[in-house]
Amino acid sequence: MDTAEVYMPIAIDELVSGTLNPVDLFIRLSEGKFIQVAKANTTLDLSQIKNYKTKSIEYLYVRKDDFSRISAQSIQLAGMMIQRNDVAPEKKATYLTKASSSVFKRMDHIGLDLEMYHNAQQVTEAVITLVETQSQFAVLFGNLASSNDHLLNHSVGVSVLSAMIGVELGFQKKATLEKLALGGLLHDIGLKTLPSGLIKKSLIEMTNDEAQLYETHPYRGAKVLLGLGSVPDDVIAIVYEHHENAIGQGYPQRIRDVKMHPLAKIVALADQFISLTLIGPNCPNPKSAREALLFIESTLGLPFNKDAFRALKRVIEKEPQRKAG
Ligand SMILES: [Fe+2]
Ligand SMILES: [Fe+2]
Repeated sequence: MDTAEVYMPIAIDELVSGTLNPVDLFIRLSEGKFIQVAKANTTLDLSQIKNYKTKSIEYLYVRKDDFSRISAQSIQLAGMMIQRNDVAPEKKATYLTKASSSVFKRMDHIGLDLEMYHNAQQVTEAVITLVETQSQFAVLFGNLASSNDHLLNHSVGVSVLSAMIGVELGFQKKATLEKLALGGLLHDIGLKTLPSGLIKKSLIEMTNDEAQLYETHPYRGAKVLLGLGSVPDDVIAIVYEHHENAIGQGYPQRIRDVKMHPLAKIVALADQFISLTLIGPNCPNPKSAREALLFIESTLGLPFNKDAFRALKRVIEKEPQRKAG
């Protein structure tokens, strides 16, 4: 055991029993002390690991250099599971959240780098396959929010819902849908550059200065993506404009619907809807999907693109197909 090695945590619920585990896995005994509990290239048996100690284990650890391999595997697995007809949609949504989680972990521990971006792109391909094969939001939704990381759940929710609205609006090109889903997944990455204490606060708890700092996150996110050098302008525009709204009362530019990027209009609406329906610092009591629609329309006065809103309404109001008998 090499104590000088740097280890990164992986939530145990991100791993899937019965899959081939590509890396050595460790348990942390105490600060700087790790013990190996699974070898690379063996079949993962989580029940065995969970029994290792009587206290419950939430995290396993991997060597920092191995992290890319384990996230690549989790993304690949999600891609495969989502294509399979014999896997329930609820399960597919869980795989998607697990795969996205590895992207967000990378942001936390390694930074917002090109590999994070490529991983996010691969997750987006899985998002598109998922929404093309499963159009019922209600079926997917409960299982998207399966992690205890609010920002992760929120981002996956916005990504999937944005893609669903795009499909409902009749977008045919895969490349457009992928940009939409990618912009949705990464829209709040600017928050990762702010103090973590700040983003855990609700907007009403923030001082004026803190709120001003918070409102820099669209700009910060766009700047990070621009710095990577290979991110399409459309994706950067989504990130930069996701807090604008149709009536020119958003931020940072206060632009109106006609000036907004067409994909940003969709993500701005999906962002608002998911913020109302998923638990988070600004939403201790989430609304149901129909309540959220009503709130956006009546209480907020629909400050979003009307076509996008109508499409969202159709997505939500689709009745689940019931099996006969
Ligand atoms: Fe945001
Ligand atoms: Fe957001």
